[in-house]
Amino acid sequence: MCGIFAYLNYNVNRERRFILQILFNGLRRLEYRGYDSAGVSIDHNQPLVFRQEGNIESLVKSVYQEADAMGLDLEESFCVHAGIAHTRWATHGEPAPRNSHPQTSGDGNEFLVVHNGVITNYQVLKETLIRHGFTFESETDTEVIPKLAKFVFDKANEGEGSHTVTFSEVVLEVMRHLEGAYALIFKSLHYPNELIACKRGSPLLLGVKELNEEFNSGPTFHDSKFLSNNDHPKELFLSSDAHAIVEHTKKVLVIEDGEVVHLKDGNVSILKFDNDKGRHGGSLSRPASVQRALSVLEMEVEQINKGNYEHYMQKEIHEQPESLKTTMRGRLIRGGSCKAKTVLLGGLKDHFKTIRRSRRIVFIGCGTSYNAALAARPILEELSGVPVTMEIASDLLDRQGPIYREDTAVFVSQSGETADTLNALEYALENGALCVGITNTVGSAIARRTHCGVHINAGAEIGVASTKAYTSQIVVMAMLALAIGGDAISSQTRREAIIDGLFDLPNKVREVLKLDQEMKDLAKLLIAEQSLLVFGRGYNYATALEGALKVKEVALMHSEGMLAGEMKHGPLALVDENLTIIVIATRDSCFSKQQSVIQQLHARKGRLIVMCSKGDAVSACPGGFGRVIEVPQVEDCLQPVINIVPLQLLAYHLTVLRGYNVDQPRNLAKSVTTQ
Ligand code: F6R
Repeated sequence: MCGIFAYLNYNVNRERRFILQILFNGLRRLEYRGYDSAGVSIDHNQPLVFRQEGNIESLVKSVYQEADAMGLDLEESFCVHAGIAHTRWATHGEPAPRNSHPQTSGDGNEFLVVHNGVITNYQVLKETLIRHGFTFESETDTEVIPKLAKFVFDKANEGEGSHTVTFSEVVLEVMRHLEGAYALIFKSLHYPNELIACKRGSPLLLGVKELNEEFNSGPTFHDSKFLSNNDHPKELFLSSDAHAIVEHTKKVLVIEDGEVVHLKDGNVSILKFDNDKGRHGGSLSRPASVQRALSVLEMEVEQINKGNYEHYMQKEIHEQPESLKTTMRGRLIRGGSCKAKTVLLGGLKDHFKTIRRSRRIVFIGCGTSYNAALAARPILEELSGVPVTMEIASDLLDRQGPIYREDTAVFVSQSGETADTLNALEYALENGALCVGITNTVGSAIARRTHCGVHINAGAEIGVASTKAYTSQIVVMAMLALAIGGDAISSQTRREAIIDGLFDLPNKVREVLKLDQEMKDLAKLLIAEQSLLVFGRGYNYATALEGALKVKEVALMHSEGMLAGEMKHGPLALVDENLTIIVIATRDSCFSKQQSVIQQLHARKGRLIVMCSKGDAVSACPGGFGRVIEVPQVEDCLQPVINIVPLQLLAYHLTVLRGYNVDQPRNLAKSVTTQ
């Protein structure tokens, strides 16, 4: 929901202006995680805090203005400097400077904290701290954390002239009292040039760059000795995700739940609670020191730049031929001596037997990820013979719906961080189901908590509206269906046709992307519409839901995806000459039913746009009474991958033409880490 970032240099002379730039750039990379308000803390004798409502650029402007007004020397150099930064998507308290981070312990900034996540017991902690004389200025859950740190620090130093507790001890004690999900970075007046990071539930990475390291110098692997005592000049980065680190270094450590990471004098030391009950309010054991190895990021800086595109969403839509190839790479086998066509999903190989014997396969996800699972459901049912049910994660939790030991629960999530999906995962684990993860984020909470899974490998998705992750998720689930289906003779022809279709899919997506200008023209016609309905059924019910979701979330136009079979049970009442309706009627077993839907909508004078297979306009839309979008035809179960592309393009162009921010839609954030 929010993005946190920190920078610490050691034995490297960096002036304050440069340090600020590093912090701002880190925030720019994380801005897709939240863009309501932002803040930084840098050093000037004591920590200074700058916070501003609005996006990162508003913060940058206000910091330079305030620095000028203060007569702050921005050229001053530091050999050791520790700065923290935050970009916020508001949960507790409106976007305003007082609710922005860093949150502080009070005057003097003795303790400062940036936070991503939610502290669920903050009310109790707040009341206790108020009883001890603390006053609060924000409505955030986070403010209790720096105040609790001050309370712990003062208590430890009662009656003494100088402090004896270490920064780690203060933070460890604070962590014992926190419930909920969080990634935190602490900075303190009492511990200059030190930073502490800790996490439970929310993601956090440490990046390590030696001064003499050549950027992009190829994959080197350092063991944990690298993290212990040495005087090498180095720069250390903490970040909610790899996007803000990869331009500095590829050497990272994925911080785990229960770990407390202390950066001091160029050293990194890690303590870990060896049980992790804190998330649900249980007690934590004594922490022990741990050694961890660095790993190498498999991400290129180009992936997180816009390249020649104006917006990330545009780039990600047009990247789909490539992202689909990467998703399938090494997983589809065709040819060889026996000409076998098969699918390899290494992450699941030890579990196929259990999945085939499951009582049910339950797909669980939210938003676009749920829609992707819905698109894949029919082929999974067809090839596996196992009943497949669908659950929106929050609804499963609200109902405490039944999940059995004999179930396979499949969690679909681009980010791998979504709180509702993650909580549903904990619920399914408690109920003993086999839990499978389908995510785009290696090392994410969902990837780590599930028993097994498949990464979709679509590459970084930065536009808040999910596009390429959606099509890659469908492809992964189609491959899952093929793999679970095994090699039954009865379905061999069908399986081979799907595998051939998968191989050809990137080309077909390239073809459908040529509709870009046509979709722009259509967007011009629809720019002033109040409302848009999208009707689909069968494989393309999901396309209707997903197309409508794209239009509503970025173009801010009311839009509903509907099951065409339900049209005459209510929605038909809405139809008149003022309503624009997109009907998806590409060739599959539902085609004749969709023809009849089109006739009925036409009879009620609805303004029709029909999506049909190439060359099929006359059958789909006899009499030419509607506008037609012709798309390449592919194997029915893969058609949703093709059909969504024109709707993604339409949503994109509508948004740009209506003058809205396409990559940062109002009120939304890329990963929703609160319930
Ligand atoms: C819409 C969109 C959201 C996400 C949903 C789940 O474009 O991106 O609906 O799909 O918030 O997010 P993940 O897939 O990260 O679990």
